[in-house]
Order: sequence, then C-alpha cells, then structure tokens
Amino acid sequence: MANDFTRRDTLRFAAFAALFPGWARAEGATKIVMHKSPTCGCCGAWSARMREAGYVVEEIVEADMPSVKKRLGVPEALSSCHTAEIDGYIVEGHVPPQAVARLLKERPDAVGLAAPGMPAGSPGMEGGAAEVYRLYLFDASGARPFGDWRGDKPV
Ligand code: CU
Ligand code: CU
Repeated sequence: MANDFTRRDTLRFAAFAALFPGWARAEGATKIVMHKSPTCGCCGAWSARMREAGYVVEEIVEADMPSVKKRLGVPEALSSCHTAEIDGYIVEGHVPPQAVARLLKERPDAVGLAAPGMPAGSPGMEGGAAEVYRLYLFDASGARPFGDWRGDKPV
C-alpha cells in the first residue's frame, strides 16, 4: 500500500510540474537578468548555458546596450555583447557558469566580472577552436584578473 501512495504522489507531482514548467526548477535557483541587443544571437546561447547550469534567466531586449553598460558600471575596455545582473554583481559577456559560481561563493569586493570581447570557445561562443581568455573583476577604480579560462574551464 505504501508504495501505491508514493507512486500516486509522484504522478501527482509530475502532473503539477508539467502544468507549471518553471516551478520545480525555479525554487531556490539564482535569478539572472540579462540585457541584450535585438540583433545578437550569441547572448541567447549564453543564457541557454546558464539555464543548463540551473539559473533562471530573464532576457531583456535593449535598444541601446552602450547606455545600459554605462548605467551598470561596465568599463568600455572590458565590454562584450550582453550584460547580466546576478545576485548583486554585474556579469559582462561570455563568463562561464563555473566562474559565476566562484564569484557568488567568494563574493569579492567588486562591481562585477567580465569576459571582454567574444572569446572563441567560451560558453555561447562554441564551434571554433577554443582560445585562452582572461576574466576580470572590475569596479570604478579599475580591473584585476580573475583567472585564465579555455571553454568553460579554468586553465
Ligand atoms: Cu557574444
Ligand atoms: Cu551576444
């Protein structure tokens, strides 16, 4: 009998989860608000990678990304395509999920973390030969390195 109840509860949960797809995953997940331009595709590829890593991503299409970056404090020299807000930090460009996890765990004194440009092979930029790229923590006073990465892993 106990097994019947368990099985019935499992089925009931599955039916509920099917009705409200975001619910089961959204509980306890960290939310990302991502700003992106209407003409760029790699931003969507990055947000897909972040969803796979367990984040809930809200995408906001912006007419003027440069002014969004300025408002959020992203230095021009470190800019990429999309700009995300994650748990009190700004995350610029194709930063790997593992680097975001480290950022949120260590919580360094910084405005945000950037992957400048569009590094080949970084999350959302897969396809070609993966290059080594450097991540930078930044604030109003400057930037400092946050490790070298290839693909989605530290080098
Ligand atoms: Cu990009
Ligand atoms: Cu993009």
